[in-house]
Amino acid sequence: MRLDESAAWQKLKEHYQKNKNIQLQELFDRDGNRFQKFSLEAAGLLVDFSKNLVDEETIALLLDLACQQDLGTWTDDMLAGKPINRTENRAVLHTALRNRSNTPVMVEGQDVMPVVKKVLGHMRFFTESVQNGNWRGYTGREITDVVNIGIGGSDLGPKMVTEALKFFRNKRISSHFVSNVDGTHITETLRRLNPETTLFIIASKTFTTQETMTNANTARQWFLGQGGKKQDIAKHFVAVSTNIQEVTRFGIASENMFEFWDWVGGRYSLWSAIGLSIATSIGFQRFEELLAGAHEMDTHFTTAKLEENIPVILALLGIWYNNFHKAQTYAVIPYDQYLVHLPAYLQQLDMESNGKYIDHSNQPVTYSTGPIIWGDAGTNGQHAFFQLLHQGNKLVPVDFLAPANSSNKIGDHHLKLLANFLAQPQALMMGKDEEQVKAELLDAGLPEEKIAWLAPHKIFLGNRPSTSIMFKSLNPRTLGAIISMYEHKIFVQGIIWQIYSFDQWGVELGKQLAKKILPQLKEDKEVNDHDSSTNGLINYIVSARKFAS
Ligand code: F6P
Repeated sequence: MRLDESAAWQKLKEHYQKNKNIQLQELFDRDGNRFQKFSLEAAGLLVDFSKNLVDEETIALLLDLACQQDLGTWTDDMLAGKPINRTENRAVLHTALRNRSNTPVMVEGQDVMPVVKKVLGHMRFFTESVQNGNWRGYTGREITDVVNIGIGGSDLGPKMVTEALKFFRNKRISSHFVSNVDGTHITETLRRLNPETTLFIIASKTFTTQETMTNANTARQWFLGQGGKKQDIAKHFVAVSTNIQEVTRFGIASENMFEFWDWVGGRYSLWSAIGLSIATSIGFQRFEELLAGAHEMDTHFTTAKLEENIPVILALLGIWYNNFHKAQTYAVIPYDQYLVHLPAYLQQLDMESNGKYIDHSNQPVTYSTGPIIWGDAGTNGQHAFFQLLHQGNKLVPVDFLAPANSSNKIGDHHLKLLANFLAQPQALMMGKDEEQVKAELLDAGLPEEKIAWLAPHKIFLGNRPSTSIMFKSLNPRTLGAIISMYEHKIFVQGIIWQIYSFDQWGVELGKQLAKKILPQLKEDKEVNDHDSSTNGLINYIVSARKFAS
């Protein structure tokens, strides 16, 4: 049965037609308890979804949709280690990496918890050695700089979390992240580093990714060219991967390899040894707190009733906007500078997971799937793209996130930040009508003619939805819960849309074509075997190179 022909979908469609002009302000006027009814708390997070274009009936119908799509069975299958990533025939068990409950997690009849714990033990030993100075470079000096070389899930998660938890970092160690194959990235990073005190973490699930292997080779050459010897590599290079053969071929000893498994998706891997750069920055105990926060959210997700389940409610609201209100994008705005990389991290998590058009029965879907995710830290965004949020003609649902307390208590900065965090969703919801605008202009002493001309530009239509997510403070535990919340939200949406959220075949074609183009760029010959645009561009590059300064 096609999703958009199903009973639950049809009911939502009818409900939308009847209620599409629902007014948030009216909903609040009608029900003094709307905040209490439309907010949830779990795992240290408060999620206020009362400023969304929904009433009780909308939520009930959306919950029916989740039940109709068999969410419970899919969740059970995921946790039972069944290969729900069917196009890659893999289990999906990032939840096992943060399983703090001493219960086995089975994959193909084998409990994976002993190997998970073994790698965590290895990470603990390594992290502590680096942090306490026992791990020394080839001239006997302590490590001061850790460079994570990885891309996609092997970069965005570790980078986002390391930045988010910078307040808790070991001040003696600086963390760096190199991802882009653009030589500028590694050149500018290495420029500031001393090989004697630098440790490279080569993070790649496959250990074949072009960008990461190119950067890793350049880092090794730099190290050897700066005085390091081949036998010193063991003190300066460690690897995180599922591919032992390639790691060995690169020259990294097995004791310096941190393993993970094919049942951990790249964009879900920060909980695995891919999180090593996080642990070397904040310490292993705090890394475990991050895992614990995520586990608490996992427990909430797997045990709470659907109507009280934060990831489920967020997923359903997303579907409501995406499929019924036809919103194309979704903004995430953290009012916390430490969370500045959260939108970029969520872009991969969400768009690589749910940017799909083929459904479980191998047919093109007939409805919209994953939204475009974007955003930036508040208050910066207010002075950039908020104009469009307030007065543009596109519906953009927003998640606002903020800690009630700041780690950096300085003057009244945090109260100002929070005032903005509270004001923006309120402004989006309430808007400002013509009457108010005209009264303000009159007060400002403008002549009537000018008022009539200017007023339309100053009207805010309002009724724009948002969700506010708060926590007492940003720490490893709350961050773990936030990330896990979004992971499960995306999972729920993928199940409802009947797509496979855990593969990413869409990234392959570009890689294949680049492989063909690379040798042509290395030669000085004119090419004519592509389309005329690509031929023209390649030929431009080849000829422009002759004039390079
Ligand atoms: O190209 C996309 C991708 O496969 C992501 O899914 C993944 O996170 C990234 O590349 C990096 O892959 P790897 O960890 O194998 O280097």
